[in-house]
Amino acid sequence: MKKDLLTIKHLTGDDILSFIDRGLEIKRSGRNTDRPLRGCTLGLIFEKASTRTRVSFETAMTRLGGHTLFLSREASQLSRDEPIKDTARVLSRYVDALAVRTFSQAMVEEMAQWSKIPVINALTDRYHPCQILSDLMTVKEKRGSLENMKVAWVGDGNNVAHSWIGAARILGFRLVLACPEGYEPMPEELEGAGDNIRVVRDPREAATDAHVINTDVWTSMGQDAERDRRLKDFQGFQVDEALVSMAKPEALIMHCLPAHRGEEIAEGVMEGPNSVIFDQAENKMHLHQALLEMLIAGP
Ligand code: CP
Ligand code: NVA
Repeated sequence: MKKDLLTIKHLTGDDILSFIDRGLEIKRSGRNTDRPLRGCTLGLIFEKASTRTRVSFETAMTRLGGHTLFLSREASQLSRDEPIKDTARVLSRYVDALAVRTFSQAMVEEMAQWSKIPVINALTDRYHPCQILSDLMTVKEKRGSLENMKVAWVGDGNNVAHSWIGAARILGFRLVLACPEGYEPMPEELEGAGDNIRVVRDPREAATDAHVINTDVWTSMGQDAERDRRLKDFQGFQVDEALVSMAKPEALIMHCLPAHRGEEIAEGVMEGPNSVIFDQAENKMHLHQALLEMLIAGP
């Protein structure tokens, strides 16, 4: 049966670790020479901007010997209201997998429901499962383990935060999210969560003794009309040097990028010795290779 990646919540701890370990193995072994996806095509349907996710998927596919086909909404008949169920069934006859970046989670779910090929969520308003997998890969690469750690999330309770919550539920690490009032993760994402996951108001409470500090933009794609209000509401939630000094001395500073220096993260932290942000970005390519190998070619 085909496998999709729509949210990390559908994965087991073993699934997550096998993606991460394969990603690390691929990174260590350099360029893949086996070309296991020779003759295969990955379709990318993107309705939002992307630098990293698009380029790392395209490069991953090239390294695996396959091809990609990029379709913006405007360039396809989706822009003229062709139903998702028709688009999915037609594309299933041409390509071997689809990576979809869009607004609603329901859209990728419908695409997966009608596709005969694996569908990968390349970011929705609700989740960013590819991001959390490569972020966890980065933590394992730097720390050697995903156990016995406290992860701080400072900022918006958004799609990437939801994915960190999913990961903490499955893997059991401590996750403390510091969010301004009104910007907490969706209650459904926290329902039934264990006491390893907490939402607090004070970024210092999240950062104290943390092994990892994570942040993301205050205004995600699709929220531009709220930017001015958000800039005000997130004051005091910047990951700056003072906040980092409260974490473990070896704490990893992470940001999925793109970043707004001087807003959610200080320039000195972004460029500082604890930042693993650019390794984190690189790892998307290795993790996507592992993902495509497993979803298209099988284990
Ligand atoms: N982190 C991430 O998904 O970046 P892009 O929006 O550039 O793809
Ligand atoms: N939360 C951000 C992540 C970008 C990779 C957004 O959705 O715009």
